[in-house]
Amino acid sequence: MNILAIESSCDETSAAVCSNGAILSNRIATQAVHAAHGGVVPELASRAHMQNIVPVVDVALKESGLPLTDIDAIAFTQAPGLIGSLLVGGQFAKSLSVAMDKPLIAVNHMQAHVLANLIPDQKPSFPFLCLTVSGGHTQIVKCLAPTRMEIVGETIDDAAGEAFDKAAKLLGLPYPGGPLIDKYAKDGDPNRFRFPEPKIPGYNFSFSGLKTAILYFLRNAGTAQVYKEEFAATEEARKKFIDENLADICASIQSRIITILLNKLSKAARDLGIKDLCIAGGVSANSGLRKAFKEMGIEKGWNTFIPDFQYCTDNAGMIAITGYYKYLEKDFATLDVPSMARGF
Ligand code: KG4
Ligand code: ZN
Repeated sequence: MNILAIESSCDETSAAVCSNGAILSNRIATQAVHAAHGGVVPELASRAHMQNIVPVVDVALKESGLPLTDIDAIAFTQAPGLIGSLLVGGQFAKSLSVAMDKPLIAVNHMQAHVLANLIPDQKPSFPFLCLTVSGGHTQIVKCLAPTRMEIVGETIDDAAGEAFDKAAKLLGLPYPGGPLIDKYAKDGDPNRFRFPEPKIPGYNFSFSGLKTAILYFLRNAGTAQVYKEEFAATEEARKKFIDENLADICASIQSRIITILLNKLSKAARDLGIKDLCIAGGVSANSGLRKAFKEMGIEKGWNTFIPDFQYCTDNAGMIAITGYYKYLEKDFATLDVPSMARGF
């Protein structure tokens, strides 16, 4: 059974083909147009999806080795995301489904990030916990079956990816800053600067305080207490401080984000007695998080799973695998299924 999947929720246009749960191709067209704007511009994203979608689907099909006539169902990202972007992928999938007279499968993007962990041969056992960390979401999800998930905890303000991107912006780095912080952090001392860990009850997260702490820390060029506005250094002194300490600043910020995430995940795993743990979403591409997550598993005797790099950030491979499990349950959508900015 072969599924063609489309992902277009944000700024990546992606198409993938899967055959009986095995991914045959996963092509991603990244939209470079946003870098100059310091963030994703929704209107530009929709236009770029319009330009990219046909060639990306074409290449994904060719790479899979399957002709379009061998496709049994079309899966697409229904929600959540930028509405204009979702509509491009949604309308494309619906048109193809009508033209080919094949079933349509509506996939939730956050559920798909979690199920990216079911792509490799070595899969977690149910129930497992997944820390889903992306540009728009930060969640701990309890996964009881491929299509049965419960949110255990989530962010009450910024997402982890947003925390990375906002910190990077304050450091004068281009969008998306997460991968750049990761890169510079590799040569830095994570214990050089101490940023606060928020005290949030339960399994929820908060990252807005960290952003404020970084703002004041940089405004004071690292000379005053990190989260108190005591004096403002000159622009020149601030730039010099960032230039000379970029690696240590990035390593310290990254290390704090990682401890915030993993402390909550390990608390949930302990309390719920779950030993199979996964991470997913764009931030799970972070090398520091991947390493710390694996070390935590070894230390506590938990089984840890991380999707392959290409299935961490937005991709249609994860939509295809989710589509596969929904197909098995005959969970098909009708043509009037709406694309939705929010959901899950
Ligand atoms: O899942 P994703 O591709 O898109 C959303 O659904 O949001 O996640 C994008 C987020 C961005 O905030 C980006 O900065 C972050 O993932 N990200 C990283 C890394 N690679 C991507 N953050 C930290 N380190 C990375 N290596
Ligand atoms: Zn995503």
